[in-house]
Amino acid sequence: MNLYDRIPNNVNLSEDKKLQRALEKWLPNYLDWWREMGPEGFQEKDVWLRTAVDVGSEGWAHFDYVKMPDYRWGIFLEPPQPDAKVGFGDNYGRPAYQEVPGEFRNALRRIIVTQGDTEPASVEQQRQLGKTCPSLYDLRNLFQVNVEEGRHLWAMVYLLHGYFGRDGRDEADELLERRSGNPDKPRILEAFNQPCDDWLNFFAFTMFTDRDGKYQLSALAESGFEPLARTCQFMLTEEAHHMFVGDTGLGRVCRRTAQLMKEGDVRELGGIPLEIIQKYINFWFSYSLDLFGGEISSNSADFFAAGLKGRYKERDQYTDHLATNENFTMTIVEDGELQDREVPLRNALNEVLRGEYVKDCEKGLARWNKVLAEEGASERLYLPHPRFHRHVGEFAGHTFDLQGNLISREEFERHKSEWLPTIEDREYVRSLMHPVFEIGKIANWIAPPAAGIKGKPFDYEYVKL
Ligand SMILES: [Fe+2]
Ligand SMILES: [Fe+2]
Repeated sequence: MNLYDRIPNNVNLSEDKKLQRALEKWLPNYLDWWREMGPEGFQEKDVWLRTAVDVGSEGWAHFDYVKMPDYRWGIFLEPPQPDAKVGFGDNYGRPAYQEVPGEFRNALRRIIVTQGDTEPASVEQQRQLGKTCPSLYDLRNLFQVNVEEGRHLWAMVYLLHGYFGRDGRDEADELLERRSGNPDKPRILEAFNQPCDDWLNFFAFTMFTDRDGKYQLSALAESGFEPLARTCQFMLTEEAHHMFVGDTGLGRVCRRTAQLMKEGDVRELGGIPLEIIQKYINFWFSYSLDLFGGEISSNSADFFAAGLKGRYKERDQYTDHLATNENFTMTIVEDGELQDREVPLRNALNEVLRGEYVKDCEKGLARWNKVLAEEGASERLYLPHPRFHRHVGEFAGHTFDLQGNLISREEFERHKSEWLPTIEDREYVRSLMHPVFEIGKIANWIAPPAAGIKGKPFDYEYVKL
């Protein structure tokens, strides 16, 4: 097999012998990791998957049956822009960095490793889900997400191998050594150590946690370190499908629940009650908010100053790319109460990015509420306040209700079972998770999708079992 068939790429890999050797050494370790930690029980099955084979608006992806271990995890970057410039920060307007600037080397490596670590982590979190899929369509979507997260790992490992020399190679190895939820060698970020062992979790994860990924990648897609920017720009094309899976998945659960509500008691009818859906939203939304980091952050200021990590749509949405003179007002806890505080804008960029994310999530909620309305339900779902149930930043260590009011720990504990999934809730959801492997059939707790994938009908044999 030639090199391109093994590692499809647009980074001229066949010319770069050093990089080629490094990646070829890493490849068998990656495949071992995939076999050990990838989707369990389906490695030998033919799955109708898309594979990135090129960049560009038309024809970047190829759809066909493939066994997952034979998936071609390629390395694709958006084509370079002639005269690319640093788009923000202290070096605004200077030529973009084609190599890692020495003074930012550690910061940049940290950013790439932290992003890279989430990719294999999510595959690990989701590895048991295939066994309880609600339909072949959903099973295929799960595997699509999984192989693309694997490709995103490749993309990050390419940067580590290609631009960081020896310590980059060590970091690339460690990306295959940490394990989601393992107390001795956990994944770096907490949301990626949470179990994702039922499909309601999966849909909430791809809706809320992959969407954090969208905003992190978007901020890095603005980066003045051009190889990183171009890598992230291309990853975003694939990421859109992951969020689609979560967004429409939850929408379909809402639809089915609302349909069952018309017939009688949702639980007795084997559906997922809206209260449980709401608790899963509360759980995953709050953990995903943590991924943006502290509200007030000198790291965010440093990354912005260095031109490494911009704001969402930095180029299109802002005119002042220096952000030196502005302040940002945020509400934080001081002396045991909520108080407004003015922060230099550059130190508030995590919060600015989080705000963009929250707006995007609200649109998802509006879509689900539209589904509920269509089915004649008067109940509505909502996002909890961003202060609720936080473990990172200004609100960690304090307790809030769903509206964001500061409350005592005792009061939080009293209401916790109304706000967050209980063990019983999780067990109940799990009790509904029986696999449906028949072509064109679907589990009782979820509605079928409005359409299939890439023009195929819902009753297509998306996975050959
Ligand atoms: Fe990803
Ligand atoms: Fe993703």
